[in-house]
Amino acid sequence: MLNVQLTDKHVLRERARQHVDQGAVTEGYQADREEVLRLLNESLATELVCTLRYKRHYFMANGLKASIAADEFLEHATQEAEHADRLAERIVQLGGEPEFNPDLLSKMSHAEYKAGNTLKEMVYEDLVAERIAIDTYREIIQYIGDHDPTTRRIFEDILAQEEEHADDMADIYEELACPGLPATLESQGTLPWLFRACLLKRP
Ligand SMILES: [Fe+2]
Ligand SMILES: [Fe+2]
Repeated sequence: MLNVQLTDKHVLRERARQHVDQGAVTEGYQADREEVLRLLNESLATELVCTLRYKRHYFMANGLKASIAADEFLEHATQEAEHADRLAERIVQLGGEPEFNPDLLSKMSHAEYKAGNTLKEMVYEDLVAERIAIDTYREIIQYIGDHDPTTRRIFEDILAQEEEHADDMADIYEELACPGLPATLESQGTLPWLFRACLLKRP
């Protein structure tokens, strides 16, 4: 059992009646609200930039080999937009204002907007952006700790999906980097090993 002092319910009732204009932010809110809002807004910018980049990649992907990648790009674009919605909703709950000004988004975003020309470049840039998001969100989760469980849970949910995205992009990048590997090998789970061997052979 953690050594946590539980507040008397009469005190809780009295507190809840004070500053009702602050909505979900009660006196017991333990995080640095301004700092959490800044982190949420930078993450919102990241998600919006990622949505736009994936959308471009979806429309630019062409060719037979690109159809699987295009499906993934579209799915990721939709999920990044859902992440953005969750972050914007939380910003408002905490009494802040979600930043949607397009002039500011790429400056605030953790990940850059790198368009990429070839399919391989697109997948590479998406993989890099996902890896930036993963590291950033992991640090934010550690920073928030137990001070704001709701915001932390949102970041944990998003982080889990970013890890899936990175995994998806890594799989496609492997295929593009080592063309000619039979697709059946992938379903047998052999591809990552062959891919590493293939990369080692590359100049
Ligand atoms: Fe995301
Ligand atoms: Fe993602």
